[in-house]
Amino acid sequence: MRITILGAAAGGGFPQWNCNCRNCAGVRNGTVRAKSRTQSSIFIRNDNDADGILFNASPDILEQIRNSPILQPGRASRDTAIAGVVLMDGQIDHTTGLFMLRERPTPMPIWCTDPVEQDLLQGNPIFRVLSHFCGVQRQRISVDGALFHVPGVEGISLQAIALNSKAAPYSPHREAPVDGDNIGLLITDTTTKSSLFYAPGLGEITPPIMAAMANADCVMVDGTFWTDDEMITLGLSQKTARSMGHLPQSGPDGMVQTMAKLPSSVRRMLIHINNSNPILDEDSPERAELTAAGIALCEDGTEIQL
Ligand code: MLT
Ligand code: MN
Ligand code: ZN
Repeated sequence: MRITILGAAAGGGFPQWNCNCRNCAGVRNGTVRAKSRTQSSIFIRNDNDADGILFNASPDILEQIRNSPILQPGRASRDTAIAGVVLMDGQIDHTTGLFMLRERPTPMPIWCTDPVEQDLLQGNPIFRVLSHFCGVQRQRISVDGALFHVPGVEGISLQAIALNSKAAPYSPHREAPVDGDNIGLLITDTTTKSSLFYAPGLGEITPPIMAAMANADCVMVDGTFWTDDEMITLGLSQKTARSMGHLPQSGPDGMVQTMAKLPSSVRRMLIHINNSNPILDEDSPERAELTAAGIALCEDGTEIQL
């Protein structure tokens, strides 16, 4: 399978429109060596066909499509390579791009869990709004381990794993999580058997998550924050990483230590990187620590063959 990183930043993107933290100001004026990034989303297709699956629909989707010609194969007067959309949660940075796809002539096939569907019918009623445009052909993701696939994208199987992270602030269970608020996905090429574990929002490494990561050929997981108190220390917010459902990379049992326990053959990548995170600065000691640990940062436009 072929994976295209459409966007590698967390909510707000990098640089964030209203932010003058060291990273955001530095990438704007050229004093920090870093690459700008749009909000997190990936596209996966098999080795032979043009059509693929969009994982999350970021508010930056139109820019991402313009920057990735594979998403517009041009076979008809109206065309797209997006055969369906799979949502990992109901957060703004992963769902509001659906509005930008409203010109579709037929209902958009969208896979999500029941709690995410509820949030997109009520707290942030994107599905209700879209019913006045292309409409939504909602498909249910269960977190009971069942395999599913997106018709039109053959040879790629998907399996959801419930995660501890956070539902969106407009969810009635923001502070009382239910299974399916956030999922990780094991994405397998059924021909080559190669697999990706994808979890852009991941708050806690439970035994099933550790097992899924250890069995994958590549893990692409939550790279939001370096430290739990990053936003507080920088004076940007009062929220900790963990209160937002994001496991920080540094410290005891952080993402770096977790990844060190994986078999050495597992390719390690971070995605959904917040603009405040020092790892974005290519000259930072934190970035050097990741590089030494064999952990790469996703960049917009990167193609991975698995
Ligand atoms: C998150 O990942 O915690 C959210 O997407 C934050 C946001 O609303 O931007
Ligand atoms: Mn997010
Ligand atoms: Zn910033």
